[in-house]
Amino acid sequence: MQFRDLKAQYQVLKPEIDAGIQAVIESSAFILGKAVMELEEKLAAYIGCKHCITCGNGTDALQLALMVLDIGSGDAVFTSDFTYFASAGTSSILGATPIFVDINLDTFNMDPAALEVQIKRVLVDGKLTPKVIIPVDLFGQPADYDRILPIAKKYGLKVLEDGAQGFGGNIRGKMACSFGDISTTSFFPAKPLGCYGDGGAVFTDDDEIDARLRSLRAQGKSSIDKYDNREIGINSRLDTLQAAILLPKLKAFMEYEIDSVNRVADWYMDRLRDYFVTPTVLDGFLSSWAQYTILLDGKEARDAMRSKLKDKGIPSMIYYPRGLHQQDAFKWMGLDNSMYPNTIEATMRCLSLPMHPYLKEDEVNTICEALLEW
Ligand SMILES: Cc1ncc(COP(=O)(O)O)c(C=O)c1O
Repeated sequence: MQFRDLKAQYQVLKPEIDAGIQAVIESSAFILGKAVMELEEKLAAYIGCKHCITCGNGTDALQLALMVLDIGSGDAVFTSDFTYFASAGTSSILGATPIFVDINLDTFNMDPAALEVQIKRVLVDGKLTPKVIIPVDLFGQPADYDRILPIAKKYGLKVLEDGAQGFGGNIRGKMACSFGDISTTSFFPAKPLGCYGDGGAVFTDDDEIDARLRSLRAQGKSSIDKYDNREIGINSRLDTLQAAILLPKLKAFMEYEIDSVNRVADWYMDRLRDYFVTPTVLDGFLSSWAQYTILLDGKEARDAMRSKLKDKGIPSMIYYPRGLHQQDAFKWMGLDNSMYPNTIEATMRCLSLPMHPYLKEDEVNTICEALLEW
């Protein structure tokens, strides 16, 4: 059994994917070829955004977005404490200071009340200027934008949506990756929409931001001359080959994969909800189920269950074993666990189970039987 079965997906989409790869090789337009433009148009239309700018990966997408917002030394960037490192590392690399926010244990997403406490703390402290909030759509569910966006407005902060895991989710029909002033996603292979290598994208409705991002992803070049560099940028483009692979995958994603993962989530929920803490999807929210993560009673029970599943050939993962405030890279901040009780709880009790659109009901039964045997 696979944690995320990319081979099963390839078997279904093989003719279109192979033909797409072949066409790119024959065209030799490996960089910013036709498939990249076509993909950017289709992604923007799907998200309901004016512009999509693809790039090398989801980390670069975040960095490019922070660069276009002119984030740097002295700025405070608020993000979830329970997320992948890139949500915070990208602010640090630009000289800004990430401020970690505790999560809501039901959804694993940033707790808006804790966010406001942190913003006020930074303001009282007076050393940093609050600039951006990076809510993360963790495990596929959009962050609580109904509550986060008014907080951003109240304090005059920009919102950068980290939709690396949330692509395909929505809130009352409004798509993930459309909630931020700028939003980003990742096409890492195991993501809800993944390519066959690294890839990422930035979404915005703003024409000027779009133009500047296209320059920043190409060394800050001007729009007329490749060798005329207006500012410092990076080299971060989506390969045409990856775009050609993503085109048929996006079609399948829109046509049936999102429905399929939600069906798998329902199977899990029906079988597990009386015995484990199963994930909560807020009213009106749709998850794209980047992960299906349950909570066990404690660390010992979780670790024992994980090895029991392993013995039965069932893969599982711990997303995430530590909060960002516990990372050595951020040790210098001297942050205490007591500020992040829900992150700590999640790190000790979380267990992510196999989840993908090609998971069969009898496989879910096997996983749930192994979990319930205990
Ligand atoms: C929440 C989150 N943000 C950002 C990223 C970075 O994406 P990439 O791996 O494409 O750089 C990831 C990928 O794992 C992620 O899960």
